Amino acid sequence: MKISASFLSIKDNLKENINLLTKCDIDYLHLDIMDGKFVPNQTWSIYDIKNVINYDKPLDVHLMVNDVYKYIDEYQILKPEFITFHYEISLDILDIINYIKKYNIKVGLSIKPSTKIEEIIPYLPYLDLVLVMSVEPGFGGQSFIMECIEKIKKLKELKSNYLISVDGGINDQTISLVKDADIVVVGSYITSGNYLKNIEKLKEKIYG
Ligand code: DX5
Ligand code: ZN
Repeated sequence: MKISASFLSIKDNLKENINLLTKCDIDYLHLDIMDGKFVPNQTWSIYDIKNVINYDKPLDVHLMVNDVYKYIDEYQILKPEFITFHYEISLDILDIINYIKKYNIKVGLSIKPSTKIEEIIPYLPYLDLVLVMSVEPGFGGQSFIMECIEKIKKLKELKSNYLISVDGGINDQTISLVKDADIVVVGSYITSGNYLKNIEKLKEKIYG
């Protein structure tokens, strides 16, 4: 199981703290990009992002935006490992998948807690990653929604070549509930204290 660390909850000295975070034993740096329309919160512009991130770890871009094409064009410049968008924007999902693939970037499709797995089954063969939201997208520090555990199990049964990632409310307790996931996205549990110690605690739960 890999760790994708989100810096959404880091409130000050963002550049320095991201540098600290990417020196830790994490596998990806998770960028939560929000437009204030798809979710009731707005995060950084691509200019802000370019000023604060580094390339010590592969980038895992999570787009919570309506105008997906605009943001894909902006973020492909960072050459991320993944660009993930939301099924609920109800545009032409296959067209967006191909649009991201044209940039030679791996494609993720994310589903909100209320979206059923059945709704995305037609797209699974074309995906590199499925991001199961275990909180309502928009904010860090929320509590884990237990119903998403069933979704991860179902995705595991249906598995073709996509990775299963789970995002929201992951800590040293809830991580044990999502063992079938390939990646966990963790924000506030890591960044609300000593990064190294918190990552260590997660690793102990992953590797027992
Ligand atoms: C929420 C974001 C998540 C969030 C995770 O919309 O997509 O990545 O930052 O943060 P925690 O781990 O604090 O729930
Ligand atoms: Zn996220």
